Amino acid sequence: MRSIIRTVLLLMTPMMASASGDVPDVHVEVDLANIAGLQRGAQTFFNYCASCHSAKYQRYSRVAEDLELTYDQVAANMVFTGAKVTDHVVVAMTPEDGERWFGQAPPDLTLVGRSRGPEWLYAYLKSYHTDTSRPWGVNNPLLPGTAMPAVLASLQGEQEIDADGHLHLVTEGSLNEAEYDRLVTDLVNFLVYIGEPAKMVRGSIGVKVIMFLMLFTFLAYLLKREFWKDVH
Ligand code: HEC
Repeated sequence: MRSIIRTVLLLMTPMMASASGDVPDVHVEVDLANIAGLQRGAQTFFNYCASCHSAKYQRYSRVAEDLELTYDQVAANMVFTGAKVTDHVVVAMTPEDGERWFGQAPPDLTLVGRSRGPEWLYAYLKSYHTDTSRPWGVNNPLLPGTAMPAVLASLQGEQEIDADGHLHLVTEGSLNEAEYDRLVTDLVNFLVYIGEPAKMVRGSIGVKVIMFLMLFTFLAYLLKREFWKDVH
């Protein structure tokens, strides 16, 4: 038995190593119970990302319900494509246009929180730096030669990278560092949320199940006492 466990563990080690090998060493606080943060993340997503990226497995109405917003609030602040609140979050840009304009069509972001993970996303959105050899004048060590422009540069400011790979801010953006970190954290939280909206309810269901089991155990105990009362 023990050797089977050891073999399984040995087989898993390289898988775990390669899965975690690309994950940058940053900490990002994922908190799907922080509704206000998720609302801010949604606002940033729809203002700065949804013009190029779809989240086509998600509906605006689901975002409204999960993030405790009314359909009117979502329609007024998050739908810029003329879509209905009950529609999926799609973009007007066709993949062909995307490829023609950027050299690479902007991918759908519904599942990116799961495919890349929050740490990668956080590091990616903080690592744009100037690079005059690139078409947009920027590059990103997390996705070298990225076809995506530095869409948050007006907020973060412009960064340069030195020979050791350290990033420095050279031009201020409209947000200071702490504010920008907060914005990226909220945005990453939103991307994690759209990748698996059911996660939000799963936690509360778990608590209810445990409470039910505890109550049931207590009732079973009372019943057992009742049944065995006369035997002893
Ligand atoms: C002007 C169009 C445009 C906007 C706006 C834009 N992106 Fe992108 N994005 C792209 C393109 C093009 C790519 C493909 C990059 C590549 O593969 O080289 C991309 C790639 C990405 C990727 C990498 C996906 C992967 O797994 O490879 C992520 C993550 C991403 N974008 C997130 C965002 C976020 C978050 C925002 C909003 C803050 C945003 N993008 C705004 C065009 C855009």
